[in-house]
Amino acid sequence: MKAAILVSGSGSNLQSFIDQVAGNRIDLEIAVVLANRSDAWGLVRAKKSGIDTACIEHANFADRESFDRAIANELDRFAPELIILAGFMRILSPWFVKHFEGKILNIHPALLPLYTGLHTHERVLKAGDSHHGSTVHFVTEELDGGPRILAGRIAIRADDTADTLRSRVQAVEHQIYPQAAQLFAQGRVTYRDGNAWLDGKIMADPLILNF
Ligand code: GRF
Repeated sequence: MKAAILVSGSGSNLQSFIDQVAGNRIDLEIAVVLANRSDAWGLVRAKKSGIDTACIEHANFADRESFDRAIANELDRFAPELIILAGFMRILSPWFVKHFEGKILNIHPALLPLYTGLHTHERVLKAGDSHHGSTVHFVTEELDGGPRILAGRIAIRADDTADTLRSRVQAVEHQIYPQAAQLFAQGRVTYRDGNAWLDGKIMADPLILNF
Protein backbone atom coordinates (compact mmCIF):
# COMPACT_ATOMS: atom_id res chain seq x y z
CA MET A 1 0.00 0.00 0.00
CA LYS A 2 1.30 3.44 -0.94
CA ALA A 3 1.63 5.83 1.98
CA ALA A 4 2.55 9.48 2.35
CA ILE A 5 4.09 10.58 5.64
CA LEU A 6 3.71 14.18 6.83
CA VAL A 7 6.20 15.66 9.30
CA SER A 8 7.12 18.98 10.87
CA GLY A 9 10.04 18.03 13.07
CA SER A 10 12.44 15.33 14.12
CA GLY A 11 10.56 12.49 12.48
CA SER A 12 11.46 9.70 14.91
CA ASN A 13 8.11 8.07 14.08
CA LEU A 14 8.92 8.44 10.40
CA GLN A 15 12.22 6.68 11.09
CA SER A 16 10.39 3.82 12.69
CA PHE A 17 8.26 3.45 9.53
CA ILE A 18 11.37 3.64 7.33
CA ASP A 19 12.99 0.85 9.38
CA GLN A 20 9.89 -1.35 9.35
CA VAL A 21 9.47 -0.94 5.60
CA ALA A 22 13.18 -1.66 5.01
CA GLY A 23 12.86 -4.84 7.07
CA ASN A 24 9.76 -5.90 5.13
CA ARG A 25 7.83 -5.99 8.38
CA ILE A 26 4.89 -3.92 7.10
CA ASP A 27 3.08 -3.89 3.75
CA LEU A 28 3.72 -0.24 3.00
CA GLU A 29 5.69 1.70 0.47
CA ILE A 30 6.57 5.24 1.57
CA ALA A 31 5.81 7.13 -1.64
CA VAL A 32 6.64 10.60 -0.32
CA VAL A 33 7.54 12.47 2.85
CA LEU A 34 6.08 15.96 2.98
CA ALA A 35 6.99 18.71 5.46
CA ASN A 36 5.62 22.16 6.13
CA ARG A 37 9.03 23.42 7.30
CA SER A 38 12.28 23.27 5.38
CA ASP A 39 14.24 22.60 8.60
CA ALA A 40 12.24 19.46 9.48
CA TRP A 41 14.81 16.75 10.25
CA GLY A 42 12.33 14.23 8.90
CA LEU A 43 13.20 15.45 5.39
CA VAL A 44 16.84 14.54 5.98
CA ARG A 45 15.85 11.08 7.23
CA ALA A 46 13.73 10.53 4.11
CA LYS A 47 16.43 11.71 1.69
CA LYS A 48 19.02 9.47 3.38
CA SER A 49 16.73 6.54 2.61
CA GLY A 50 16.12 7.58 -0.98
CA ILE A 51 12.48 8.52 -0.43
CA ASP A 52 10.91 11.36 -2.45
CA THR A 53 10.38 14.51 -0.40
CA ALA A 54 8.33 17.66 -0.74
CA CYS A 55 8.38 20.82 1.33
CA ILE A 56 5.51 23.28 1.22
CA GLU A 57 5.82 26.05 3.80
CA HIS A 58 2.50 26.99 5.37
CA ALA A 59 3.77 30.50 6.05
CA ASN A 60 3.53 31.24 2.30
CA PHE A 61 -0.24 30.75 2.23
CA ALA A 62 -2.98 33.20 3.12
CA ASP A 63 -5.19 30.70 4.90
CA ARG A 64 -5.39 27.13 6.09
CA GLU A 65 -7.39 25.74 3.21
CA SER A 66 -5.19 27.15 0.45
CA PHE A 67 -2.19 25.53 2.14
CA ASP A 68 -4.12 22.28 2.44
CA ARG A 69 -5.10 22.39 -1.23
CA ALA A 70 -1.45 22.86 -2.15
CA ILE A 71 -0.28 19.89 -0.09
CA ALA A 72 -3.16 17.72 -1.36
CA ASN A 73 -2.17 18.61 -4.90
CA GLU A 74 1.38 17.49 -4.23
CA LEU A 75 0.28 14.32 -2.42
CA ASP A 76 -2.18 13.38 -5.18
CA ARG A 77 0.73 13.10 -7.63
CA PHE A 78 1.77 10.01 -5.65
CA ALA A 79 -1.77 8.60 -5.34
CA PRO A 80 -1.34 7.64 -1.68
CA GLU A 81 -3.82 5.19 -0.19
CA LEU A 82 -2.83 6.19 3.33
CA ILE A 83 -1.72 9.52 4.84
CA ILE A 84 0.34 9.15 8.02
CA LEU A 85 0.68 12.24 10.21
CA ALA A 86 3.92 11.84 12.13
CA GLY A 87 4.40 14.97 14.19
CA PHE A 88 2.76 17.17 11.56
CA MET A 89 2.03 20.30 13.55
CA ARG A 90 -0.74 21.78 11.41
CA ILE A 91 -4.46 21.45 12.00
CA LEU A 92 -6.02 20.13 8.80
CA SER A 93 -9.03 21.85 7.24
CA PRO A 94 -12.39 20.10 6.77
CA TRP A 95 -11.67 20.25 3.04
CA PHE A 96 -8.45 18.21 3.42
CA VAL A 97 -10.06 15.70 5.79
CA LYS A 98 -12.89 15.17 3.28
CA HIS A 99 -10.47 14.87 0.35
CA PHE A 100 -8.67 11.97 2.04
CA GLU A 101 -11.62 10.74 4.07
CA GLY A 102 -10.96 7.58 6.05
CA LYS A 103 -7.34 7.43 4.93
CA ILE A 104 -5.59 9.72 7.41
CA LEU A 105 -3.95 8.40 10.57
CA ASN A 106 -2.49 10.41 13.43
CA ILE A 107 -0.69 9.52 16.63
CA HIS A 108 -1.31 11.57 19.75
CA PRO A 109 0.85 11.31 22.87
CA ALA A 110 -1.92 10.57 25.37
CA LEU A 111 -4.54 7.96 26.12
CA LEU A 112 -7.34 9.57 24.10
CA PRO A 113 -9.95 10.80 24.76
CA LEU A 114 -7.88 12.14 27.66
CA TYR A 115 -5.60 15.11 26.99
CA THR A 116 -6.25 16.28 23.48
CA GLY A 117 -4.03 19.19 22.42
CA LEU A 118 -0.52 20.09 23.58
CA HIS A 119 1.71 19.50 26.66
CA THR A 120 0.19 16.14 27.43
CA HIS A 121 3.08 14.83 29.54
CA GLU A 122 3.06 17.86 31.83
CA ARG A 123 -0.74 17.68 32.19
CA VAL A 124 -0.74 13.97 33.00
CA LEU A 125 1.85 14.50 35.75
CA LYS A 126 0.01 17.47 37.19
CA ALA A 127 -3.21 15.45 37.34
CA GLY A 128 -1.42 12.63 39.21
CA ASP A 129 -2.59 9.96 36.77
CA SER A 130 -1.44 6.36 37.19
CA HIS A 131 -1.12 5.66 33.44
CA HIS A 132 -0.17 7.44 30.26
CA GLY A 133 0.53 6.47 26.69
CA SER A 134 -0.19 7.22 23.08
CA THR A 135 -3.07 6.60 20.70
CA VAL A 136 -3.31 6.02 16.95
CA HIS A 137 -6.58 7.26 15.49
CA PHE A 138 -8.30 8.18 12.26
CA VAL A 139 -8.32 11.89 11.56
CA THR A 140 -11.69 13.62 11.38
CA GLU A 141 -12.58 17.28 11.59
CA GLU A 142 -12.47 17.11 15.37
CA LEU A 143 -8.93 17.74 16.66
CA ASP A 144 -7.53 14.52 18.20
CA GLY A 145 -11.12 13.29 18.23
CA GLY A 146 -11.37 10.75 15.39
CA PRO A 147 -12.09 7.05 16.03
CA ARG A 148 -9.31 5.33 17.91
CA ILE A 149 -7.51 2.25 16.60
CA LEU A 150 -4.66 1.30 18.92
CA ALA A 151 -3.35 2.68 22.20
CA GLY A 152 -0.07 1.87 23.95
CA ARG A 153 -0.20 2.21 27.73
CA ILE A 154 2.54 2.69 30.31
CA ALA A 155 2.40 2.94 34.10
CA ILE A 156 3.69 6.25 35.43
CA ARG A 157 6.61 5.89 37.85
CA ALA A 158 7.11 7.98 40.95
CA ASP A 159 10.26 9.54 39.51
CA ASP A 160 8.87 10.28 36.03
CA THR A 161 9.29 13.81 34.69
CA ALA A 162 7.79 15.29 31.54
CA ASP A 163 11.07 14.43 29.79
CA THR A 164 11.19 10.79 30.88
CA LEU A 165 7.53 10.40 29.96
CA ARG A 166 8.15 11.95 26.54
CA SER A 167 10.91 9.49 25.76
CA ARG A 168 9.08 6.47 27.17
CA VAL A 169 5.92 7.38 25.24
CA GLN A 170 7.91 7.89 22.05
CA ALA A 171 9.43 4.42 22.37
CA VAL A 172 5.87 3.08 22.59
CA GLU A 173 4.82 5.14 19.56
CA HIS A 174 7.59 3.66 17.46
CA GLN A 175 6.01 0.26 18.02
CA ILE A 176 2.28 0.95 17.90
CA TYR A 177 2.15 3.33 14.93
CA PRO A 178 3.54 0.86 12.36
CA GLN A 179 1.34 -1.87 13.88
CA ALA A 180 -1.80 0.24 13.45
CA ALA A 181 -0.80 1.20 9.90
CA GLN A 182 -0.24 -2.47 9.13
CA LEU A 183 -3.79 -3.31 10.25
CA PHE A 184 -4.98 -0.65 7.79
CA ALA A 185 -2.69 -1.88 5.01
CA GLN A 186 -4.04 -5.39 5.46
CA GLY A 187 -7.60 -4.07 5.19
CA ARG A 188 -8.38 -5.32 8.70
CA VAL A 189 -8.96 -1.81 10.04
CA THR A 190 -11.16 0.51 8.00
CA TYR A 191 -13.09 3.74 8.47
CA ARG A 192 -16.78 3.95 7.68
CA ASP A 193 -19.68 6.18 8.82
CA GLY A 194 -17.53 7.94 11.42
CA ASN A 195 -16.33 4.71 13.03
CA ALA A 196 -13.23 2.56 12.99
CA TRP A 197 -13.94 -1.07 12.10
CA LEU A 198 -11.78 -4.09 12.89
CA ASP A 199 -12.41 -7.28 10.95
CA GLY A 200 -15.89 -6.04 10.00
CA LYS A 201 -16.93 -5.02 13.53
CA ILE A 202 -17.25 -1.48 14.90
CA MET A 203 -14.47 -0.69 17.36
CA ALA A 204 -16.19 0.76 20.42
CA ASP A 205 -12.77 0.97 22.08
CA PRO A 206 -9.27 0.91 20.65
CA LEU A 207 -7.02 -2.09 20.93
CA ILE A 208 -4.74 -1.59 23.92
CA LEU A 209 -1.17 -2.78 24.35
CA ASN A 210 0.47 -2.52 27.76
CA PHE A 211 4.18 -1.77 27.82
C1 GRF B 1 5.00 12.36 18.62
O1 GRF B 1 5.19 12.29 20.00
C2 GRF B 1 3.54 12.31 18.29
O2 GRF B 1 2.76 11.73 19.29
C3 GRF B 1 3.15 13.73 18.13
O3 GRF B 1 4.28 14.37 17.62
C4 GRF B 1 5.45 13.68 18.04
C5 GRF B 1 6.31 13.50 16.83
O4 GRF B 1 7.60 13.10 17.13
N1 GRF B 1 1.98 13.82 17.28
P1 GRF B 1 8.61 12.68 15.96
O5 GRF B 1 8.77 13.90 15.04
O6 GRF B 1 8.02 11.52 15.24
O7 GRF B 1 9.88 12.36 16.65
